[in-house]
Amino acid sequence: MSIGAKSVSGTGFDVERARADFPILQQKVHGKPLVYLDNAATTQKPRAVIDAISRYYEGTNSNVHRGVHYLSELATAEYESVREAARRFLNAADHKEIIFVRGTTEAINLVAQSYGRAHVGAGDEILITEMEHHSNIVPWQILCRERGAALRVAPINDAGELDLEKFSTLLGPKTKLVAVTHVSNALGTINPIRKIVEMAHGAGAPVLVDGAQAAPHLKVDVQGLGCDFYALSGHKIYGPTGIGVLYGKTALLEKMPPYQGGGDMIMSVTFEKTVYNRLPYKFEAGTPDIAGVIGLGAALNYLTYLGIEQIGAHEHEVVRYATSAVSAIPGVRLIGTAKEKAGVVSFTLGDVHPHDIGTILDREGVAIRTGHHCSQPVMQHFGVEATARASFALYNTKEEVDALVRAIEKVRKVFA
Ligand SMILES: Cc1ncc(COP(=O)(O)O)c(C=O)c1O
Repeated sequence: MSIGAKSVSGTGFDVERARADFPILQQKVHGKPLVYLDNAATTQKPRAVIDAISRYYEGTNSNVHRGVHYLSELATAEYESVREAARRFLNAADHKEIIFVRGTTEAINLVAQSYGRAHVGAGDEILITEMEHHSNIVPWQILCRERGAALRVAPINDAGELDLEKFSTLLGPKTKLVAVTHVSNALGTINPIRKIVEMAHGAGAPVLVDGAQAAPHLKVDVQGLGCDFYALSGHKIYGPTGIGVLYGKTALLEKMPPYQGGGDMIMSVTFEKTVYNRLPYKFEAGTPDIAGVIGLGAALNYLTYLGIEQIGAHEHEVVRYATSAVSAIPGVRLIGTAKEKAGVVSFTLGDVHPHDIGTILDREGVAIRTGHHCSQPVMQHFGVEATARASFALYNTKEEVDALVRAIEKVRKVFA
């Protein structure tokens, strides 16, 4: 394999063919070919997803679950078939364990407000980690403040790995829930979820996994992981924005009160009493994002067609190449050097502000993200305000890494 070779040999993944599926990638930015390396923020959409949404609005648009007419039945069947596709994608035991939400953020808020309010009281504890995204911190802070509970935080080491020993000492009879990310968006660290679940269950605490950054790169098997809740966002796995999935074990979901009230989540309503609908509809109040669900279904089909393991292997090779090329640039400090990583190369360059790095890279057609990545505690751990983050997807190539490196060299020249 030659460094920078066009087709990524060894993995057998045909990246050029995959790139042709993404219309947006064919354009130029500031006269340069677009190099899109902001995939942890959101991924681009393949033609199959764009077409599925148009097809729905052109031929099937109708409200779900309510009508007896032709279009409503078609829309309902398509909507529910995506629930089954999501069940398969996550290897959930039952399709009623799949709840459609707006995204990872809403999934976590749903669990905090429904499970949390029912099970967390004064003196109880919620255990998270230092590497969480704000959306896996703030909902628990809100809950803890409301209930008089305490938020405990398991620390990370200087490679950006969870300190499992300290984590285990923070688990105890007061721990009512553990909420942990599968893959860190700021560092790329892959957490040992199965081990974490074993430890938490040993202490009697259920586990919510934030899968926003794992689902695009790793095969997720919720039964294999043993977790109680798993959250993901459609837009990070090549689907539309505004749609996501919360997986929850039936036994827990059955006992949880509704998150929101309204249409569709009820069996019957009188002014005296409302009987809630069965799972999963109890948690899907109001008209859902039907087009979003259908777009998500097309994204899941697309990922299944390409093979998530093949995608992961290809990305792993590109990320490894990027890690060694970027870290060889004088002045670069990598933030996040865990042994197990996926998707992300986060770095600083001397005392150049990451926003300046991002702006100069943009002029070269290279789109990265700069800032705290909604993970300010991670930034505090590493003593930086912000990093520059290149994040990778199935369509990225080693040539694009070369373009990234050339652009960073330009930054160095500007600030020399
Ligand atoms: C690890 C992680 N968790 C949660 C989220 C929130 O996802 P969303 O904004 O799609 O709800 C993100 C988004 O970047 C993330 O990276």
